[in-house]
Amino acid sequence: MTALKHFNNGFAYLEIENRQAKAKIALQGAHIFEYTKEGEASLLWLSQKSLFENNKAIRGGIPVCFPWFGKNDKGKDLPQHGFARTMIWDVVLQEDLDECTTHIVLRLESNAATKKMWNYDFHVELDFLIGKQLQVSMHIKNCSTIPFDVTTALHTYFKISNINKVLLDGLSHNQYYDALTKKRGTHQDSTGFSQEVDRIYYAVPNKIYLQDEMRKVEIESFGAHSLVVWNPWIEKSKHMRDMTPDGYKTMLCLETANAGDDIVTIHPNQSHKIGAIYRIV
Ligand code: BG6
Repeated sequence: MTALKHFNNGFAYLEIENRQAKAKIALQGAHIFEYTKEGEASLLWLSQKSLFENNKAIRGGIPVCFPWFGKNDKGKDLPQHGFARTMIWDVVLQEDLDECTTHIVLRLESNAATKKMWNYDFHVELDFLIGKQLQVSMHIKNCSTIPFDVTTALHTYFKISNINKVLLDGLSHNQYYDALTKKRGTHQDSTGFSQEVDRIYYAVPNKIYLQDEMRKVEIESFGAHSLVVWNPWIEKSKHMRDMTPDGYKTMLCLETANAGDDIVTIHPNQSHKIGAIYRIV
């Protein structure tokens, strides 16, 4: 069952419930901000101070970064992580496939506002399968007459019990770019984080695992070559008005992406698909 709901300020979202899971997806940004599998704690972290406001991305869940990831050097007024996460998307499909799985599709098409920031014709769909696992995929179509380049991410905030003890498994000697030191490096296995992290890992395997004290989550990605690992830690959190001082302790962003060096060129009438399946194993 899916219902359209609103917060008091009018901010709209879909509330989904079936026999296997519950979820909430904001129309702004096609942004899923809750997914809870039956009998489990919430998969996605959501800041207790998250703003559900027009034109502000929700702090938590899965923000969608499109058509660029990170800052855009072409203009200082261009929004970080693109415009998709703060625009209103249309719901084009909502159906229960059976008692245990709900299929939702939202769509964003180029318009006068998007063309001011990025002068191409496109449509992009966010496709959700909500059930005993969560599948999220982004389908981008180039409707222009010339090719365009995109960088993208599903900027997933995972809820964890302890940032100091969480283990990221599945990477081997992957190369990464560290946005804090502006240097490249090679991954070394370690348990837990003890400081701010902001890295883009390259050539990542299509299955990685987040091992936490409370559970293990498998992230199976498709159409993605990079993985962004981010936690703002203490100092950066102080400068973010939608983070609590302790919020960083119970979250880790593992972002299925094509970011940094991994730029995707999409030709006219061609499409690109990137996505992930999240399983509590
Ligand atoms: C990460 C970036 O993906 O997102 C970080 O690597 C950034 O550099 C973070 O700080 C959060 O971005 P925002 O725009 O949601 O505050």
